[in-house]
Amino acid sequence: MKILLLGAGGREHALAWKLSQSRRVSRLWVAPGNAGTEGERLAASGAPVENVAVGAEDIPALLDWAGRFRPDLVVVGPDNPLALGVVDRFRDAGFRIWGPTREAARFESSKAFSQEFMRRHGIPTARAATFDDPEAALRFCATLDGQCAVKADGLALGKGVLLTGSLAEARRAVEDILVRQVFGAAGARVVIQERLIGREISLHALTDGRCCRLFPTAQDHKRIRDGDQGPNTGGMGTYSPAPFLTEPELAAVGRAILDPWIAGCGEEGLDFRGLIYPGVILTTDGPRVIEFNARFGDPETQVYLTRMENDLLDLLEACVDRTLDRHTLRWSPQSSVCVVAASAGYPESSTKGRVIHGLDRVAARPDTKVFHAGTARQGDRVVTHGGRVLGVTAWGGTLASARDRAYAALADVEFEGMQYRRDIAAQALGIRD
Ligand code: AMP
Ligand code: GLY
Repeated sequence: MKILLLGAGGREHALAWKLSQSRRVSRLWVAPGNAGTEGERLAASGAPVENVAVGAEDIPALLDWAGRFRPDLVVVGPDNPLALGVVDRFRDAGFRIWGPTREAARFESSKAFSQEFMRRHGIPTARAATFDDPEAALRFCATLDGQCAVKADGLALGKGVLLTGSLAEARRAVEDILVRQVFGAAGARVVIQERLIGREISLHALTDGRCCRLFPTAQDHKRIRDGDQGPNTGGMGTYSPAPFLTEPELAAVGRAILDPWIAGCGEEGLDFRGLIYPGVILTTDGPRVIEFNARFGDPETQVYLTRMENDLLDLLEACVDRTLDRHTLRWSPQSSVCVVAASAGYPESSTKGRVIHGLDRVAARPDTKVFHAGTARQGDRVVTHGGRVLGVTAWGGTLASARDRAYAALADVEFEGMQYRRDIAAQALGIRD
């Protein structure tokens, strides 16, 4: 089977790595991919995974390419192409494609839509309201004593959320988003939620629009610096499983969120065949959804797929064909940890073109995989090409051994200005360093 995967990040390298292990994959293209994706080889034939020089958001060029190369399945990694309607456009052109339609992708592309949907269908979430008028927004902030999460409605690269601890801060946040439009058009409306207290976990579930298959728990580390300090990023490191929920508790949380979610999608005619990723805070009053994403998490995918024992292609096809009820997810009992190495200046900016050293050395390590994110090939060298550069991932029989292995591997690689967090999974292990 010939597959076209869209995207260029660490998530897409992990998806390409996992798909390349399927005996049924005869050809795998990644548009545009990175230096890691094109380093993979197909298990079935030993043939290389091929990068295609077309951007994941350039839908006309992708359709043109697909018309010539006829992939049997298209898999969408990032959120932007989904919000642009890539699934609708490819289906209209007669292709099989995995991912939610543009309308269904609003769970991620519009926080106001998600919040309203949760209210309509009784999904546990924070107290919240949506505004386009700053004064009305501030009156609501006052009812929350300024303890708010102020969110741009639209897509803002995971950065459009400002947490406030006072009414003065809330005023600044509302003005930044609605008046100064620091997140551009994404901030034409704000969603304001009460600021919840509790541990945050990532949930993932594959869905065919009729049933959901919930993944184990994972936890991301969104702030740039140790101890959850500094600005939010796309994600600086993950581990799975997270020890904060037992299996029965996870199943109960999944039911509380996914049962009304899938029923609501059915009632509203939303065609969601892909991956739904609720961000959840475990409060003393129970789990609360703070956002939905309509795609695999990055870097959650890196830890999930290094634990998944199923053939990923079987599962993605089952989503598209609406036969997911015939499949059970199987996971390695091992823990997996991913530590992201980012460029100098990230998340505000990023430097490009710095040579990455040590990739050969780290490739020889057992139970370790370095997923590339912002990387590019320059002659026979691999150079940095974005904010998040590498996701150094390792697994082991315990969370502690997986973590030790990931940090040992990270010590092998180096590029100028490299920054990373030293406390990924530390809290779960009771380590305070
Ligand atoms: P989001 O993009 O909506 O996930 O928000 C980014 C980050 O802000 C989340 O990962 C949380 O750490 C934090 N956050 C968002 N909403 C809330 C909330 N209602 N209460 C507390 N923290 C939040
Ligand atoms: N890991 C955060 C995200 O993918 O949105």
